[in-house]
Amino acid sequence: MKKTVREAIIAGNWKMNKTPSETKALISEMKPLVSGADCKVVLCVPFVDIDAALNASAGSNIEIGAENCHFEKSGAFTGEVSPVMLKEMGVKYVIIGHSERRQYFGETDVTVNKRLKNALEEDLKVILCVGETLEQREQGITAELVAMQTKIALFDVSKEAAKNVIIAYEPVWAIGTGKTATSDQAEEVCAIIRDVIADIYDSDTAEGMTIQYGGSMNAKNADELLSKVNVDGGLIGGASLKAEDFSIIVKAASK
Ligand code: PGA
Repeated sequence: MKKTVREAIIAGNWKMNKTPSETKALISEMKPLVSGADCKVVLCVPFVDIDAALNASAGSNIEIGAENCHFEKSGAFTGEVSPVMLKEMGVKYVIIGHSERRQYFGETDVTVNKRLKNALEEDLKVILCVGETLEQREQGITAELVAMQTKIALFDVSKEAAKNVIIAYEPVWAIGTGKTATSDQAEEVCAIIRDVIADIYDSDTAEGMTIQYGGSMNAKNADELLSKVNVDGGLIGGASLKAEDFSIIVKAASK
């Protein structure tokens, strides 16, 4: 982390877990544990839990995000939710392009770009996920792949708008598998992404951008991962469902 020039952000990604009543209970448990944080604390929750999450976190340092949003403002898109709706609810962040969206729901770099632009238009902060599969890593195309995902996602996004983008480097092989990237692997790819941002915009924009690592980050390995200069936080799946574990990661980012 380099907190002198960019924000450290620990964001939970609850995925398809927790009902509204469970949301209330978990956030109530988390609140006192993360209240002294010296980093941003965000919880991205299922759409149906947003109301409960906003109520439970009111007055605390926890900000609420969604896990996806659509690329149109309204219309005939059964089952989808637009950033206009999220904004009105009081949501501040939205994850876009998570690998599970890409893998199971046909999300492409082009739809990621469209969703991201639509979210930025509603002043939401976007956590853009990029990352390679194990096969792609073994093929030696990690750098090219994350560069391509980042460039297409940010196509036609102004430098000003990009200030509301956070990138999460999430190697697909590390998500939910317990196989964490080593801190050197995380640092290497986060630095590559930062170079790509400098290439698209300029070095100031790149230096100022928060780039998180995600993929089996937990209470035990967070310290080591966050000690790397280009790793500015984490996107946390499994460990964000346990108040104690999540708070230990928040404390690691608060050092
Ligand atoms: P994990 O998930 O921490 O459970 O690996 C991270 C993510 O998918 O954002």
